[in-house]
Amino acid sequence: MFSEKLEKARKYEAEKMTEVSAEERPDFHVTGGIGWINDPNGFSVYKGEYHLFYQYHPYTTQWGPMHWGHVKTKDFVKWERLPVAIAPDEKFDEKGCFSGSAIELPDGKQLLMYTGVSETINKSGEKIDVQQQCIAIGDGTNYEKYENNPVIDGAMLPAGGNRYDFRDPKIWKENEKYYAVIATRMEDGSGAILKYESEDGLHWNYVLTIDRSANELGRMWECPDYFALDNKQVLIVSPQEIPASDLEFHAGNGTAFILGEEQESGEFVRESIKAIDYGIDFYAPQTLETLDGRRVMIGWMQNWTTSNCQKPGQKYFGEMTFPRELFVKNGCVCQKPVEEIESYRCNKVTYRSVKVNGEVILPEVSGRVIDMTVKVKAAETEKFSNFTVDIAKDDKFTTTVRYERDRQILCIDRSRCGFPNDIVHMREFKVQEKDGVITLRFLMDKHSLELFVNDGEQAATMMLYTELSATGISFTADGNALMDLEKYDLKFEE
Ligand code: FRU
Repeated sequence: MFSEKLEKARKYEAEKMTEVSAEERPDFHVTGGIGWINDPNGFSVYKGEYHLFYQYHPYTTQWGPMHWGHVKTKDFVKWERLPVAIAPDEKFDEKGCFSGSAIELPDGKQLLMYTGVSETINKSGEKIDVQQQCIAIGDGTNYEKYENNPVIDGAMLPAGGNRYDFRDPKIWKENEKYYAVIATRMEDGSGAILKYESEDGLHWNYVLTIDRSANELGRMWECPDYFALDNKQVLIVSPQEIPASDLEFHAGNGTAFILGEEQESGEFVRESIKAIDYGIDFYAPQTLETLDGRRVMIGWMQNWTTSNCQKPGQKYFGEMTFPRELFVKNGCVCQKPVEEIESYRCNKVTYRSVKVNGEVILPEVSGRVIDMTVKVKAAETEKFSNFTVDIAKDDKFTTTVRYERDRQILCIDRSRCGFPNDIVHMREFKVQEKDGVITLRFLMDKHSLELFVNDGEQAATMMLYTELSATGISFTADGNALMDLEKYDLKFEE
């Protein structure tokens, strides 16, 4: 028995989805069936498979009343689409089923924990949205909203918390107990991450506040995640309204790894803060623990600032990043594309010690669905100051990744990729050579680039809107650089 709203969304998706051909979609990145998607939700293991839900408005390519779309996979590469999971069809979520997470219950059911948005009248008599945490339980395809929703509401906030900004629960299980981290906005306008606990996933108590932005790293923090990694503890947050200060965080919506230790009391003590992705299109990441114990993260491959400026004629909008494995190295959280992608590699091309002085184009080095790693260093006793890789290039268009050696900066620039609006097209960030070498891995899937620097020390992600016929790649140095290269095409035929 499904609500009218859910039936309508399922039917609409099934009909309209067929208007988008496989050629128009990326080959190995998740997209919505049709319409708009944002944050990944409910990224979790269920019955031995990996499930991913997402914020979904099927009816237009703009954000609207949020549903949850749904896909699953066995290897993070090939995804199967499932029907829309939940719709905003109850009093407690009538204005939207906002972000949340999922977990498998001991009885074999799947529990979804999400933020229900409803409407109330405030003291001044104005209509205002209220956010509270709700549950839906199902079998991996169909879900029923829990009869006693909401399970956590404004009455369960600590002093100073705010029920108008109280969202994005991330649930996990530890020592037979359920826990969730949830974001709220405190009285001073800044974000806080709250921890709750439960015996059964349905009845919850507030435990403590894990961390606060204190208006230093942005204001409201969205989409928290919290987990142990390599003997450390990691808090992931997506802060809003960060003022850019140096090249670590750009202005607007950003994302951060906060690395620290968890005390026995449950208190979290920060050790370092680092941007998760230094590119343009990345937000609201969420993680899961794989069946073989890896911590894997997926993010929305878009950002709020640029998402309302779309290329005309799009039938669907938004993609997820490729899932990335996280690990701690030298006190920093690092990330690399999950190894499953490697079994789809073919047509290997390698070059060793190519001298780059001016522009170099190499036979068989081109393409838009590729996995390519370039290692660059200065030729002995000689120098270069700029090394540029041009991708998705033809006579008219190009997207560049430029290493400015004197400034120790990497610059990604899509301003000449063919996009018709002057949105954010460029970012710079600090990088460090390792023994005189800089390593750049390009994971490309038609209209996206995920760039990994120095074996995952940093990542930079962006969409690029160039026609698929632009497959050129070239390398340019203004001195003498030496380059090693390994490139694969990625193929996904049955
Ligand atoms: C983050 C976010 C979440 C919210 C959702 C609504 O991108 O603003 O905080 O739950 O999107 O779609």
